[in-house]
Amino acid sequence: MGAAIEVRNLTKRYGKMTALDGVSLDIDANEFLVLLGPSGCGKTTLLRCLAGLETPDEGEIRIAGDVVFSAERGLSMPPGKRQIGMVFQSYALWPHMTVFDNIGFGLGIQKLPRDQIRTRVDNVLRDLAMEGLGERYPSELSGGQQQRVAVARLLATKPPVFLMDEPLSNLDARLRMDMRTELKRLHIDSDATTVFVTHDQGEAMTLASLIVVMNKGQIEQQAAPLDLYRQPASLFVADFIGMPRINLVSAESVQENGRGWANVDDFRIPLFNDAPQGRLTIAARPEDITLSLEPQPDAVEFKVYGALSSGPELMVQALRGSTMITVRGSPQQDVKMDQPIWLTFDPSAMNLYDESSGKLLGAHQ
Ligand SMILES: Nc1ncnc2c1ncn2[C@@H]1O[C@H](COP(=O)(O)OP(=O)(O)OP(=O)(O)O)[C@@H](O)[C@H]1O
Ligand SMILES: [Mg+2]
Repeated sequence: MGAAIEVRNLTKRYGKMTALDGVSLDIDANEFLVLLGPSGCGKTTLLRCLAGLETPDEGEIRIAGDVVFSAERGLSMPPGKRQIGMVFQSYALWPHMTVFDNIGFGLGIQKLPRDQIRTRVDNVLRDLAMEGLGERYPSELSGGQQQRVAVARLLATKPPVFLMDEPLSNLDARLRMDMRTELKRLHIDSDATTVFVTHDQGEAMTLASLIVVMNKGQIEQQAAPLDLYRQPASLFVADFIGMPRINLVSAESVQENGRGWANVDDFRIPLFNDAPQGRLTIAARPEDITLSLEPQPDAVEFKVYGALSSGPELMVQALRGSTMITVRGSPQQDVKMDQPIWLTFDPSAMNLYDESSGKLLGAHQ
């Protein structure tokens, strides 16, 4: 059974540097929570605080209702007592132990009988496609295999909380995909609460039941993957989530004859009803813009600046004046450099942001 985690006002400083700045977070039992954010935003620090490997300066942490850390009460439960299993960013395996012993070590400490340890280790080795590697030493494994041993070691002990810090970063692209599927299955089968750190937003979108986006030691937004994608709460999140990147266009929003328009340079884009007015930033995803090779009503003429086809997908960079827009075309569309194209922006998939604060002003319904 997974354990719920409560984090209250957690602050961690290294000298003058504030790595975590008053973070509060509720994680439900059995959640697959992904901490996402750019390098240095505090993801590893938060995970290490949960694990008990760092001592925060302020705040409180509860796991399964038990206070495991409280700055006020001067209480800090040691890592071994916190009922957590952790895979570190730099996976630390014991070099003098075989793969089998590395994975089985925690079970030995739990005083599990030898035959049960063998069964459990064999099972995780099979789950992670590493059968037959049990007798090797870490130095005889590739980086990706070592990383899988680190994951296997965590899974074998079946803790109620999994903490994983970029556990797939050393795997090649295809293995990474396979491991994502395995991890998701293992999370569900094991009934654990998982906190998973990555700066790879594709990984976050596919694995998470809840994503927490961090920026400079603070939480920017927490939401289910699709909600985060459709309605980012700030320009930071809008820009961070999505590949290719979301289009951000500075515009003047006006109402004319009961209809909202965004004036951009020498062209205008229709907006949704009751859109906020004034100077703002429009955010539109590449798939929410339609590309036509012929003029269309309300469409704006652009020129093809670049076109990248990856087989099933066509990405076009469209330019008009100083405005560059990325739009997702269809693979059948044959576009040539510099040819005119017409873009139709879908007002029902657009978000509007305050230019200075970066906060969401108005969202499509
Ligand atoms: N032991 C330490 N001493 C001093 N500063 C540290 C220490 N550990 C982390 N920091 C600083 O705290 C900030 C947060 O670091 P952290 O490792 O949590 O980032 P991260 O989000 O995990 O980044 P990455 O994606 O690169 O792993 C960074 O500015 C980092 O330089
Ligand atoms: Mg890190």
